[in-house]
Amino acid sequence: MIDKFLNKITQGDCLDLLKQMPDNSVDMTFADPPFNLKKGYNSYKDSLKLQEYLDWCEQWISQMVRITKPTGSIFVHNIPKWLTYYTAFLNKQADFKHWISWDAPTVPMGKTLQPAHYGILFYAKDCKQLKFYEIRYPHKRARKSNILAKDYGGKKFMLHPFGPLVSDVWTDIHRVKHNKFRDEHPCQLPIHLLERIILMSTDEKDIVLDPFNGTGTTAIAAKRLGRQYIGFELDEEYVKITENKLLREQSNSKIGDSWVSFYLDEVVTLRNNDWEYLKDFYYIPKNAEDVDNQQVELMNKTNISTPLKSAACAISNQNQSILFEIV
Ligand SMILES: C[S@@+](CC[C@H](N)C(=O)[O-])C[C@H]1O[C@@H](n2cnc3c(N)ncnc32)[C@H](O)[C@@H]1O
Repeated sequence: MIDKFLNKITQGDCLDLLKQMPDNSVDMTFADPPFNLKKGYNSYKDSLKLQEYLDWCEQWISQMVRITKPTGSIFVHNIPKWLTYYTAFLNKQADFKHWISWDAPTVPMGKTLQPAHYGILFYAKDCKQLKFYEIRYPHKRARKSNILAKDYGGKKFMLHPFGPLVSDVWTDIHRVKHNKFRDEHPCQLPIHLLERIILMSTDEKDIVLDPFNGTGTTAIAAKRLGRQYIGFELDEEYVKITENKLLREQSNSKIGDSWVSFYLDEVVTLRNNDWEYLKDFYYIPKNAEDVDNQQVELMNKTNISTPLKSAACAISNQNQSILFEIV
């Protein structure tokens, strides 16, 4: 039953399509629904009455929980206003893990503080069975001096050479602003945001489902990371854009045998468990304290130019020739 949707973007109403999916059949679901803010989508009118919008959201959220495996996770991205309602729906049927605060400017609405974050709700279908991996991101540094932005005081000797474990506040991923990187879609998410979520919640070949595909950020991230994907999208044009982009993608966002997330030519998310293996691909400062002004560096970045361009780099490491591919 699931095969007809697997590794495809299916055009249609996600509620109808979700209902065709079997119980407990996908490893992770991620939704970035319309925010009811009158955005200019092709096929969807983004301005429902309050109760109508909430009733609709409750229906697709329940479907997402139903189809997620007991080991799986459910993620929902939205502005905090709508997430306060979503938590009430989700708390009845799944286990709360985190409200991830994604630091990115949003639209002011009347008499408010300046809104500066989107929320990503992270629920486990069953927290006792949840599949979850700790992840790391690069240390933040001052642009000119390259010194660590955070003062670790006398604890520098304890620093991880690559960077800290990711917390529930994400400040290092920026919204897609430049037109060069955008599709004809009003609210496209950055691919490495989805890659981070996929790396922490799924394994190779697991199935990731997005009921509001847009122009395919989730499907592309899943494909790059060797996962299977299912996408639903109301608008035919957005489906076509996604299909064209997917044709150019390969499942090769890895270093050696480890899946990692790249932004431009830098690794921006890796799994904590993989570091023992990945560290051999990096120049690492000899003393932990030197991490203060010295960044770990990939041994060979030749041919890495854009995330879309595949590059094969041969690395010679301790007389070993290691071939790794980078998207
Ligand atoms: C916020 S956008 C998702 C953007 C996506 N995350 C991306 O990065 O490209 C929401 C999408 O949901 C689609 N949509 C709205 N109602 C839908 C429905 N009932 N079923 C499927 N898709 C729907 C819209 O056409 C729009 O592309």
